[in-house]
Amino acid sequence: VWASVKAGPPDAILGITENFKADTSPKKINLGVGAYRDENGKPFVLPSVAKAEEILFAQKGDKEYLPITGLASFDQLAAELAYGAESAPIKEGRLAVTQTLSGTGALRIGMEFLAEHYPNKTIYIPNPTWGNHTAIAKRAGLQSEKYSYFDPATVGLNFEAMKKDIENMPEGSIVLLHACAHNPTGVDPTVEQWKELSKVVKAKKHFAFFDMAYQGFASGDINRDAFAVRHFVEEGHQILLCQSFAKNLGLYGERVGTVSLVTASPEEKARVDSQLKIIIRPSYSNPPIHGARLVSTILASPELKAQWLSEVKLMADRIIDMREKLYNKLVELNTPGEWGHIKSQIGMFSFTGLKPEQVDELAQKAHIYLTRDGRISMAGLNNSNIEYFAESVSKAVKG
Ligand code: LMR
Repeated sequence: VWASVKAGPPDAILGITENFKADTSPKKINLGVGAYRDENGKPFVLPSVAKAEEILFAQKGDKEYLPITGLASFDQLAAELAYGAESAPIKEGRLAVTQTLSGTGALRIGMEFLAEHYPNKTIYIPNPTWGNHTAIAKRAGLQSEKYSYFDPATVGLNFEAMKKDIENMPEGSIVLLHACAHNPTGVDPTVEQWKELSKVVKAKKHFAFFDMAYQGFASGDINRDAFAVRHFVEEGHQILLCQSFAKNLGLYGERVGTVSLVTASPEEKARVDSQLKIIIRPSYSNPPIHGARLVSTILASPELKAQWLSEVKLMADRIIDMREKLYNKLVELNTPGEWGHIKSQIGMFSFTGLKPEQVDELAQKAHIYLTRDGRISMAGLNNSNIEYFAESVSKAVKG
């Protein structure tokens, strides 16, 4: 029956984990997928999450279906975390928000909604962007085009080119923006640049589509990381926001996130909600319950929330410490090139500038795995493997 089915390529990010798992070397390091690891290189269950698990276990909750748009307390608390509890659309009952299967699910539902209800069918994504954005847009029925973002010459943001591209898009275009900790580059606009972007997007009547998968991971401060989202909303943009709890709560496999849309009125919100339900119901009926209960338990308790925030800071700080150590080690080894970007880039990733052939060499000769665009997940580095990693990179660059 399937004789004509062609083998597809492995996933550019998750395929790396498969290669890593198949490698039997004790030296192996996985810097592919963006998943936090502790200082021993182990997955990290946040202690606040472990406490919430105990609370939920003691409550002996049922396993009934959630409503199509998810757990109401979760939706409310998650939205407050992103937009701020005093945000006008929340206060005025005009934020349509629904629980999703993490950030990817949020992107898919959000893009399907736009494909059906927004007049323009092209989404503009930064160059480069997270590999899955284009694929999700395509499946959802949107075309994607790129706008300038990263400048390899400075290993930083090409703000002027970005602004110019946004100005030159047809009026009313959908512009996808990474809210913080840009994936894969780790390069974000500054506060001043975000303010300018808000003006350009408004002048051209574009639609701002935010992807916020790393709130807390950029600076260790969830409010600071939400600046762009909150500023756009304060400036009157009716944004769409995709939110993930995979990274900041370490709930990767629980698949918990939200998609939300700022609407003009409670009545408009009700209509948008009804259409979100029409998209979700035939996709997966309603979302899973456990992750939403965990998030809701943490965000509803001032003590647990405070504990969680300190744990986010701890994860962010460990990554910053690794950036410093990696930079120092590469310089100490007289590695050709300028490595300052390792320290200045933000969030979970560093865009090293390593070429695809060097990436392949690292996998074959050193058992070190990263994506072929040269991105490394900083969280995969720790005090036990950083020297070996720096030495291997240095060797690969020296050729
Ligand atoms: C990543 O970019 O590594 C993460 O967002 C995980 C994923 O699903 O790709």
